[in-house]
Amino acid sequence: MDLTAHHETLVVVDFGGQYTQLIARKARELGVFARIVPWNAENLQAEWSGAKAIILSGGPRSVTEKDSPAVPRALLEAGKPLLGICYGQQFLASALGGVVRPGAAREYGEQRVQAVEGASLLQGEFVAWMSHGDTVVQPPPGFCVAAETESAAIAAVEDRERKLFGVQFHPEVSHTEGGKEILRRFLYDVAGFSGDWSTANFIEESTEQIREQVGRGRVLCAVSGGVDSTVCAGLVARAIGERLRCVFVDHGLLRYNEADEVSAAFQEHIPAEFIRIDASEQFLTALRGVSDPEQKRKIIGAEFIRVFEAHAADLEGCDFLAQGTLYPDVIESGSPTAATIKSHHNVGGLPEWMRMELVEPLRWLFKDEVRNVGRQLGLPDSMINRQPFPGPGLAVRILGEVTAERVRLVQLADHIFRTELREAGLEPGIWQCYAALLDVRSVGVMGDARTYEHPIVLRAVVSEDAMTARAAEIPFPVLERVARRIVNEVEGVNRVVYDLTSKPPATIEWE
Ligand code: XMP
Repeated sequence: MDLTAHHETLVVVDFGGQYTQLIARKARELGVFARIVPWNAENLQAEWSGAKAIILSGGPRSVTEKDSPAVPRALLEAGKPLLGICYGQQFLASALGGVVRPGAAREYGEQRVQAVEGASLLQGEFVAWMSHGDTVVQPPPGFCVAAETESAAIAAVEDRERKLFGVQFHPEVSHTEGGKEILRRFLYDVAGFSGDWSTANFIEESTEQIREQVGRGRVLCAVSGGVDSTVCAGLVARAIGERLRCVFVDHGLLRYNEADEVSAAFQEHIPAEFIRIDASEQFLTALRGVSDPEQKRKIIGAEFIRVFEAHAADLEGCDFLAQGTLYPDVIESGSPTAATIKSHHNVGGLPEWMRMELVEPLRWLFKDEVRNVGRQLGLPDSMINRQPFPGPGLAVRILGEVTAERVRLVQLADHIFRTELREAGLEPGIWQCYAALLDVRSVGVMGDARTYEHPIVLRAVVSEDAMTARAAEIPFPVLERVARRIVNEVEGVNRVVYDLTSKPPATIEWE
């Protein structure tokens, strides 16, 4: 079953803009199934010809440059409602006979925009997010100006007759006042979408799709406790119940009590077979004496394969492998319709014999949609609102050698930090927070005695996508309490520091 065949579709043609995924996400939030297609996709025509409407995204190039990204004129003249955003508007204008001047107005950030009386998508005066150098200085024949900036530059154009629209600013960005309403008018008032994309519909359709694909077969799903593999397992379990076998490898590098919590939650909430493999000893042995971060990652990846090999007898007999691949991974790996076998980033790697036919029920979803599906499947918050956690776990938060003692120490410190943040009500605004253990030592004094022990680093960041991040502003008394508790309660730690660095130049993890 092809989801696109079941839904009215908005095709977002990607010219390489930084906000392209945001356009699709906003459309989905508005109840419209949006898919992203690169401007130079081989099957572009097949993609847009089935669409109910088209949005041309922004992009880093200038239409006045030679060989700048372009789509065939037939797409503009297909009679489909079309909205060009930023580069998309410039392309639309220049392709249809308007004039675009390079660098005419360097407008970045927030700008005041005034809509022309009677414009179809825009109303009144509002603040809009601009990020461009080129400007349309003369609309194409048949178009009129729909909005201007304070400096009287053209901010939007439209040809209501042909349902062609262009905006110089980014309605998909939250800084644009009423941006979502602009998209809503385009999608509903102009293009006439019925709003058939919803989490409830998705769950019904993907249940049917999984049943169709799997037949009477059995499915194996390697789960990590992370939201993607959890919701994937939840959906597959809904479709085929006990014919799903979830396997959870505890590498001993999870947070305090986490392996028990994940196991208990799966057994309570996911009606499938659940196998927990305790491999902590094996991972610790393999990591003995290793300090280099990349080597740690490689060893953990290789050890996952050995664990699965060693448990082959328990795991065989499945015909399919379910995997929580999301839409952004699919877009990045090329064509959304190509069934690619992705590297199993969460489980570190799987042996060859486990490379079965994939079941990927989340491959059309963005992360926020995955969380909604999880919620609607009745999974508790503790399973779906988890912070991202690196596959190699605490091994990359323990600088230097990973030993059982150092794992225990970092688990305790991390537990104290997260508990205090939760109790202070600070957790919801934080993207990731953790404690890391350094392999240097410093002098301290406890009671009357001199200590010479290791420091704990507290790291808490705010972020939207892990690409960039800022240190979270945690009230000083909370930090002080955490520091006091860690030094008092965690033997072997005599100093606590808070990491203030943003990403870039630092990274979120310490290794
Ligand atoms: P950095 O440290 O590069 O992290 O700023 C960005 C995001 O990726 C996570 N991360 C990993 N996830 N395996 C993973 O599955 C890894 O080896 C790994 N290293 C970093 C990190 O937690 C953050 O969310």
